[in-house]
Amino acid sequence: MPLERELALEFVRVTEGAALAAAPWMGRGDKEAIDGAAVEAMRALFDTVDIDGTVVIGEGEMDEAPMLYIGERLGTGRGPAVDVAVDPVEGTNLVARGLPDAVAVVAVAPRGTLLHAPDMYMQKIAVGPEAAGKVDLDAPPAENVRRVAKALGKDVSQVTVILLDRPRHEAIVRQVREAGARIRFISDGDVAAALATALPESGVDLLLGVGGAPEGVLAAAALRCLGGEMQARLLPRSEEEAARCQAMGVRDPDQVLTMKELVRGDDVIFSATGITPGSLLRGVRFTREGAETETLVMRAWTGTVRRVRAFHHPERKPVLRDLAAFRRAAGE
Ligand code: FBP
Repeated sequence: MPLERELALEFVRVTEGAALAAAPWMGRGDKEAIDGAAVEAMRALFDTVDIDGTVVIGEGEMDEAPMLYIGERLGTGRGPAVDVAVDPVEGTNLVARGLPDAVAVVAVAPRGTLLHAPDMYMQKIAVGPEAAGKVDLDAPPAENVRRVAKALGKDVSQVTVILLDRPRHEAIVRQVREAGARIRFISDGDVAAALATALPESGVDLLLGVGGAPEGVLAAAALRCLGGEMQARLLPRSEEEAARCQAMGVRDPDQVLTMKELVRGDDVIFSATGITPGSLLRGVRFTREGAETETLVMRAWTGTVRRVRAFHHPERKPVLRDLAAFRRAAGE
């Protein structure tokens, strides 16, 4: 039996809560306040959901994070046993600097089906449904660009590659440009970027490069729902990080992780709510009455993709009372 579809709406509430809590901090340059507010709201909302959840992708190890740490139990304990992957603020810098495309994200799947990715770097390639099965993490960027162009029935010059703007990507940038494709740089947030490859209206066809491993699992969960594909490789940079891979169940850190290792099975629910306005989702918008959110919620089992626009009255929601107080203090 797959996870009950009603749970999808519960996870919408969870990501909405994190986004609503983080949004008042937009543009104030205070990364700790942003994360703190979102983590607390997300944690409190999970307490109301009927799941027996364990955090597999979270805010860090138990000794590093006060809440939503790896191994923490979430939910009322009365529902299905599930793995929970969270990123209450994917793109903390984006929120701190008032830049687009920061999102609050959750993926939930039956216990034992999400990769327990350690907090380290990961090499990634991601594509939408048409190019799924056609790309290869170990092929040169130019080759992957050509394969994507063929799968999409486009000329290489019409292919857009999205990647984090980092010096480590210099060689990839050069090779993509030499191949004749275009590049859209992002300063942060490669979950939304991977997701964009599977949404035709995004104008993005292929994600390449190195980002966070936890974000990789969240992106793979989203692509599972959309019929896209991700391949990845953990990049431990020390003996200690290599040992962490082993402890999390990845015996050979050099192995290519395919969809079946990243997100085993088709029973996964993914929810992302916009924090700052972006190309994928509207951000939180404060109104005279309260606040408005937009969420993308998807269920791989049925392939249903929903956008949920919601209007909130923070004063009436116990877990968001702090937000209400904050808005009053800020004179909003
Ligand atoms: P945070 O929201 O945790 O700050 O992560 C943002 C992010 O841009 C991810 O989307 C990405 O995977 C990772 O950081 C890249 O790491 P780095 O900034 O070290 O290149």
